[in-house]
Amino acid sequence: MRTHYCGLINESLIGQTVTLCGWVNTLRLQSHVAFVDLRDHEGLAQVVIERENAAAFAVAGELGYEYCVRVTGSIRQRLSANDKLKTGTVELLAERVEILNAAKDLPFALHENPNEDMRMTYRYLDLRRPDMQNMLRTRIKLVQALRRYLDARGFQDIETPILTKATPEGARDYLVPSRVHPGQFYALPQSPQLFKQILMMAGFDRYYQIARCFRDEDLRADRQPEFTQLDLEFAFVEEQDVQDFVEGLIRHVFKEVVDVELAATFPRMTWEEAMRRFGSDKPDLRIALELADVADALKQVEFKVFAEPANDPAGRVAALRVPGGAALSRKEIDQLTEYVAKYGAKGLAWIKVEDLAKGRDGINSPVAKFLDDTALETVLKATGAQSGDMVFVGAGKWKTVTDFMGALRLKVGKDRGLVENSWKPLWVTDFPMFEYDEEEQRFVALHHPFTAPKVDDIADLRANAAHAVSRGYDMVLNGNEIGGGSIRIHRPDMQSAVFELLGIGADEAEMKFGFLLKALKFGAPPHGGLAFGIDRIAALMAGTESIRDVIAFPKTTSAQDLMTDAPSLVSDAQLKELHVAVATVDETKR
Ligand code: AMO
Ligand code: AMP
Repeated sequence: MRTHYCGLINESLIGQTVTLCGWVNTLRLQSHVAFVDLRDHEGLAQVVIERENAAAFAVAGELGYEYCVRVTGSIRQRLSANDKLKTGTVELLAERVEILNAAKDLPFALHENPNEDMRMTYRYLDLRRPDMQNMLRTRIKLVQALRRYLDARGFQDIETPILTKATPEGARDYLVPSRVHPGQFYALPQSPQLFKQILMMAGFDRYYQIARCFRDEDLRADRQPEFTQLDLEFAFVEEQDVQDFVEGLIRHVFKEVVDVELAATFPRMTWEEAMRRFGSDKPDLRIALELADVADALKQVEFKVFAEPANDPAGRVAALRVPGGAALSRKEIDQLTEYVAKYGAKGLAWIKVEDLAKGRDGINSPVAKFLDDTALETVLKATGAQSGDMVFVGAGKWKTVTDFMGALRLKVGKDRGLVENSWKPLWVTDFPMFEYDEEEQRFVALHHPFTAPKVDDIADLRANAAHAVSRGYDMVLNGNEIGGGSIRIHRPDMQSAVFELLGIGADEAEMKFGFLLKALKFGAPPHGGLAFGIDRIAALMAGTESIRDVIAFPKTTSAQDLMTDAPSLVSDAQLKELHVAVATVDETKR
C-alpha cells in the first residue's frame, strides 16, 4: 500500500515518487493550496495539495482530523525548513489523495491533554498520540533488552499457569469458577512464586519469565490489578549472588534503553534504618531531608501529645526540618496537617524558627510553650534547623508516625522543589519476617510466606518471632519499589514452622500448600530470586508518574476497562453452567 513511512522521508528521496499512508494530524486549507501533516508511527510528513490538481484538491476539501488517507506524489525540498520536524526539510507534492477511511468528529483533540476517562474509553485515539507511542516503545525496548541479557546468560524462559491455585502475595485473589468441578475455583496467580520455586526443585537452575500477575487490591498510580513482572529464580544462591546479578541487569538496561548510568554499586540500607531516617521502606534518596528522632528530649515535658509516645517503647516522636519553611502560611500548614491526617496523624506540631540566635524569642510555635528550653533546643539541634526553617513534629504510635512523617517528607520535598534531578537506586534489606496485623490479631508475612528467616534454627525463630529478620530484599529507585525478592525456605520443617507462626494450621497448610511441602521433601536445593515490576521500571524510564501510561490497555482506579466495559454482567445461562449464583447485582448495569 505504501512505499515509505511518513516519519522517515528525507532529502535522499527528492525527485522520487512515493506513497505514504497515515492519519491527518493537522490540516490547513487555503484557497489555492492545502497543507496536510500526515502522521504514522514514525512521525509526520508535510503533504502539499495544489489547486491545479483538481481531483486531489477536491479530496483535500473533504478531509478532517484523523482521517486515514493514502497519498502518492513526489518528494521535494521545502521552501522554508521546519527544524522542529525530523522530516522538516522536505515535503510531498501530492499527485493522488485517497481517503481510506473517514473519522467522526473526535471526542477530544489529540494534542490536548484529555481527561483520563476519555482517554481510556477511546484508548485507540489516545494511543495515536506520539507521546503515548513513545512511552510504550520505551517499554518494548526494556523488555527486549531484559530478554537479550537473560537469554545470553543461560536463563530459561518457562511459562507457568494462569489458571492455578492461590499464591499469596498479600492481596485478594481473582477467582475463576470451574464448569466441570461445581463449586470449585481456580485462582489467577498473584505471582508465579511457587511454580518458580518448584522449577528450581526440578533442576532448571536459572529461570525467568515475563509474567502477568493478578492482584485484587486498592489501586493507585503505581498499582494495577493485572501487571507484569520480570520474574527470576536461581538455584544454589545466597543474597549477594542474586543482588549482584540483578544489579548488573538493571544497570545494563538503564544504559541501553534510556542511556542512564546508574551507580556502580547500589547503596544498601536495612529496613529499620530506612524507616527511621526516611519514614519509608522505599526511600526516595533524591530528597535530602531526613527525620530526626526526638523522643529522648521529650520524655519529661508536660505536653502529653509528646510525652506519652516518647515514653512508650511502641511510640515514636519524629521531627522534620523544612529548609525555608518558616515562610509557610497558616493555610499551608493546615493543608499539610490535613494531608498527614490521611496517613493517620492526629495532628502535626510545628515550630517556626524565625531567628535561631534569639532562642525562644525567635520561635513561633503553638507548642513551644509546652517545651522547656532544653527540650526545645534539643529538638532544633537534632533536625539541624537554621533561621528561616520550619520544624514539624509528629508523635504517636511508631508505625503511624513513621508513615505520616515519611509522607510529609515526600510532600514537602516535592512541593518545595527539593527533589534532585538524578537516579538514586538502593537495596533495602533485613525486613522483619512478620508484621502484626492488629485487625486479624495475628502475624502476617511482610514479604510472602516462603521467604527464609535469617535464623536457621526453628526454636530460635519461634522464640523471637516478633523480632525475626527475613532474608528478603527490595530494589528501590527514586522512591519506587521496583523489585522485591528473597532467599526462600528450602527445608520442609522450616516452611511448616513459618506457616504455623502465620496462623496457618497443619490442615490448612496441607490443603493450600501441600504440593510445596511435599516437593520440599525431595532434595529441594537452596534457592532464591526476585521479581521486578516491569510497568514501574518502564514508567520511570518513560518519565511518567503513572504506570497506566506504559500499559496499552490499563484499568482505571476502580479496576474497570472503560473501552471494553469490563467487568460486565453475564447471562443467567452462563452463570448456571458455571454453577454460580450471584447475590448482589449493580442494577444500573442491567
Ligand atoms: P512483589 O509482590 O514484591 O514480589 O512484586 C514484585 C514487584 O512487582 C511490582 N508490583 C506491581 N506493579 C504494578 N501493580 C501492582 N499491583 C504490583 N504489585 C507488585 C513491584 C514489586 O516490587 N513473588 C515475589 C517476588 C519474589 O519473591 O521473587 C513478588 O511477587 O515493582
Ligand atoms: P491539641 O492538644 O490536640 O490541641 O494539640 C496541640 C498541638 O499539638 C496542635 O498544634 C496539634 O496539631 C499538635 N498535635 C496533636 N496531636 C499531635 C500528634 N499526634 N503529633 C504531633 N502533633 C500533634
